[in-house]
Amino acid sequence: MGDRAMDVICEIGEMKAQRANWSRPIGLVPTMGCLHDGHVALVRRAREETATVIVTIFVNPTQFGPSEDFGRYPRTLERDLELLQAEGTDVVFVPSASEMYPEEFSSWVEVEDVTSRFEGESRPRHFRGVATVCNKLFNIVGADRAYFGQKDAQQVAVIKRMIQDLNMNLDVVVIPTVREPDGLAMSSRNSYLGPSERAAATVLYRALRVARDMHGQGCCDAAVVARSMRESVAEEQLAQLDYAAVVDPLSFHELESIECPALAIVAVRIGATRLIDNMLLNDE
Ligand code: PAJ
Repeated sequence: MGDRAMDVICEIGEMKAQRANWSRPIGLVPTMGCLHDGHVALVRRAREETATVIVTIFVNPTQFGPSEDFGRYPRTLERDLELLQAEGTDVVFVPSASEMYPEEFSSWVEVEDVTSRFEGESRPRHFRGVATVCNKLFNIVGADRAYFGQKDAQQVAVIKRMIQDLNMNLDVVVIPTVREPDGLAMSSRNSYLGPSERAAATVLYRALRVARDMHGQGCCDAAVVARSMRESVAEEQLAQLDYAAVVDPLSFHELESIECPALAIVAVRIGATRLIDNMLLNDE
């Protein structure tokens, strides 16, 4: 791997012009760049399973709220391209915001219900931006399969809902969360954390382990498990809880009783950085 030429394409028209030359199945890995081992796991799986691997790098402005980190989101394109070349990527698509969202742009994909809770509630319009940009990328690439990380479980639920509701012709492949040795889920946003914040950030994994251990010991009361997760987060002084809950992984409705499958989810603010994580309780 890594010895094939990798195309870097920046224009939508060029992607569409090249499409006829790509062998199928085409695997798409949408990213916002600043790539880490979590992204690499997606690319590797796509490389194993598909004939043409296309990675997109686009910090999508429409999924950031006005007070969020769009401006300072880390951008490391040169390093990202080297990494993708080494993984045997065929095409990297790096569109411009002005071509993706020209002034007259006025069409949005609104996925209802699953977006009304948790991340959707804390980040209004976030999932509208995610669903819209993914729809655009699916159309531009013409992918047969799209690879997403379990790390962003509600994003996976939104994309699956959209594909089913709109009869889109591609499959979603979900890759398990890649973690640091101490359990912290890899994320581009981890780079915002100072040393004491970085140490505190393991609180998300600790809370999820509490949930898994309780369920492993036979507790099926979701409210009791969620309360213990919140107590676990409260023990960490630098952490401010946004939410902790046990939900159905497709609808993100909160569960009463933990029956198969159930997903523990947690969102925490550490200083100015907001982190999310999740763990399947009975499915692995
Ligand atoms: P980004 O945060 O760059 O993530 C790109 C993909 O990598 C997502 O599917 C995400 O779930 C996955 N990922 C991130 N961290 C991971 C980890 N530690 N383990 C496994 N997978 C991980 O998610 C987005 O970008 C955007 O919302 C996007 C889908 C590109 C739309 O703009």
